Amino acid sequence: MKRASIFILALSFSMVTLQTPPVQAQDKRAALLEGRCSGCHPTSLTESKQKTPKQWQATVSRMINKGARLTDEEKKVLVDYLSETYKP
Ligand code: HEC
Repeated sequence: MKRASIFILALSFSMVTLQTPPVQAQDKRAALLEGRCSGCHPTSLTESKQKTPKQWQATVSRMINKGARLTDEEKKVLVDYLSETYKP
């Protein structure tokens, strides 16, 4: 009985490990939105919009002009994430 539950525990751990990479990548991008875009307004403002990649690009550039802090690389990652997640 004990052995069986240890086996099940080990199995569920390995399943979590297998699932980790894509989840982490998604989390990282969500964390970027949360971390850099929630200082001035709630992220729900962003999440309620639906824009094309071009429009997200323009919005994020506008936010950077207002004071959002993103490196070029982070900007690209975030624009991709927003375009995939909040599209028309
Ligand atoms: C320095 C403050 C500040 C930061 C940081 C900031 N914003 Fe904004 N944001 C504003 C202000 C002020 C407005 C309302 C005025 C406007 O739309 O220009 C706004 C409006 C918006 C809107 C609604 C208007 C539209 O164009 O759709 C969206 C979406 C948005 N921000 C997304 C973001 C995203 C994504 C980030 C992170 C990259 C971000 N904001 C970071 C200040 C900020």
